[in-house]
Amino acid sequence: MAYPLKDIQIPEDANKELLIAKHTKYLYDFAENKDSFEYVMTEHLRLSGIFWSITALDLMGTLRDFNKEDIIEIVKSCQHSNGGLSAAPRLDSHILYTLSGVQILVTFDALNAINADAVVDYVCSLHQKDGSFFGDKWGEVDTRFSLCAVATLALLKRLDAIDIESTTNYILSCMNFDGGFGRRPHSETHAGQVYCCLATLSILNQLHHVNAEQLGWWLCERQLPSGGLNGRPEKLPDACYSWWVLTSLAIIGKLHWIDKDKLSAFILACQDSDGGIADRPGDEVDPYHTNFGLAGLSLLGENRLKKINPVFCLCQDVIDRLKLKPQILDP
Ligand code: FPP
Ligand code: ZN
Repeated sequence: MAYPLKDIQIPEDANKELLIAKHTKYLYDFAENKDSFEYVMTEHLRLSGIFWSITALDLMGTLRDFNKEDIIEIVKSCQHSNGGLSAAPRLDSHILYTLSGVQILVTFDALNAINADAVVDYVCSLHQKDGSFFGDKWGEVDTRFSLCAVATLALLKRLDAIDIESTTNYILSCMNFDGGFGRRPHSETHAGQVYCCLATLSILNQLHHVNAEQLGWWLCERQLPSGGLNGRPEKLPDACYSWWVLTSLAIIGKLHWIDKDKLSAFILACQDSDGGIADRPGDEVDPYHTNFGLAGLSLLGENRLKKINPVFCLCQDVIDRLKLKPQILDP
């Protein structure tokens, strides 16, 4: 008997059109309604939340200038004496929010708002002898933190500050028999970590170490009959993997290995008629899935969205302005 795949059924009446005006209103309302339960409960990831929202708005061409100065002030207030940035001013610095803060500032062309040399010192202070990175002073190691460190330094044009060879070798030590990557050596392959490792290798110009054919297979097998992508075998499809999986395929030149029309229909079905994108049709929306759903649609070539850079998850015009050219493998 064939083992049934875990999947969902797209409802007949699901959305089929991209709701740009609704998503724009949803994201601005989310940011302005500072007393809402959702806003208050997400303080611990505020800078990332701002990054998801402004990237989504930038992709849709609806990022307005009016609250730019306020946002820059928030980012500034999150930099600490160790140079790192925290999710919100009263929290401790962490490499995840350091990258989000830098991503926000480069979007607004406002890197001079923070002390960039101190950020570089902070990133270097987290680098370990084996090439891995701590997330913060408490010493957790994860390939997500390697990407955060390397992407932060690349956006600041300071990749010279770390040892590229050990950083690359640590990522390669997390490669598995299926061609994918996990959080640490011997950890299970996970599409989110695959993206982190590929994006790190791309920035470091080291993608020749990847077995693109084998990894491409693992990645395109994430597409389910509903058209949605999951992050690991036996998991339900989720709109955010329209980014983690699809952009990994884009980086290794295998984007054409998935059914684009079916994935596009899945993401559009995850839209709420009042704006926002959820993990699956009918679920509660949030800025995270809204951004990564839109980012996926951008990779799929949706012409009402600006182009996204597959490595930095920022609009391509921002990356062009910085004159960065992360490595992408030919199809
Ligand atoms: C899934 O997480 C996603 C990941 C593990 C990758 C996260 C990547 C970063 C934080 C690096 C910076 C990101 C960008 C865009 C530059 P999950 O916790 O939802 O996984 P689950 O689906 O297994 O619960
Ligand atoms: Zn998700």
